[in-house]
Amino acid sequence: MPNQPIDPVATTGRPSKANAPASRKAIFWDRIARKYAADPIADMAGYEATLQRVRTFLSDDQDVLEIGCGTGTTALRLAPSTRRMVATDVSPKMIAIAREKLAGQSVPGLSFSLADADTPAFGQGAYDAVLAFNLLHLVSDLDHALALAVQALRPGGFLISKTPCIAEMNPFIPYLALPLMRAIGKAPHVLCFKGSALQSAISRQGMEIVAVERHGTRGKDIRIFIVARKPA
Ligand SMILES: C[S@@+](CC[C@H](N)C(=O)[O-])C[C@H]1O[C@@H](n2cnc3c(N)ncnc32)[C@H](O)[C@@H]1O
Repeated sequence: MPNQPIDPVATTGRPSKANAPASRKAIFWDRIARKYAADPIADMAGYEATLQRVRTFLSDDQDVLEIGCGTGTTALRLAPSTRRMVATDVSPKMIAIAREKLAGQSVPGLSFSLADADTPAFGQGAYDAVLAFNLLHLVSDLDHALALAVQALRPGGFLISKTPCIAEMNPFIPYLALPLMRAIGKAPHVLCFKGSALQSAISRQGMEIVAVERHGTRGKDIRIFIVARKPA
């Protein structure tokens, strides 16, 4: 069982952007949380394909951590395939909505907690799988956040991620549209990398890549699905 507390205010002491307060990172996401919850999933077939694929790595004797869970839609779908699932997010509003949804359903073993994926809040070797969906392009420091996710895994555990690779979009978007939107508060800070760079970053943590896929069903899919295993 995960035995380490989730501490949303823990910091590393590292003099880097990773130490930006969680409350500052949450501002954008708190503001859009209700709209995010109300918006339909753009590619439902692709989403369902991802859920199905993730389930093939889960089992009911596993403790699972999700980082950047948003309003909990995915956690509510996947928790029944686990023993225990702790789904976390930096945004109090996202977590509040996730808890509202959970209150209306019976999903034993699922809990939602506030936590910043850039800080060592998840303990060491406490989980059999760490899930990160649409999150890794949003952390402050990719290598640092990956290191924390890998630390949270038990030997043999899986890091399962799906991530928009902004550098694979038309350059107009990362170099013009996103900075402009960010300047007026309509977009969050994002990291700009290709799928190959994300794979390399995961491998640098000593992880063995076991699957690299794209599940989108609507034209070009910039969201790479990567599963990696921590050596036993
Ligand atoms: C694009 S949403 C994805 C939500 C959900 N995983 C999904 O796929 O629908 C990104 C989420 O990551 C959260 N987030 C952003 N930065 C974070 C961080 N440093 N630590 C934890 N969560 C973070 C946001 O609050 C938001 O809920």
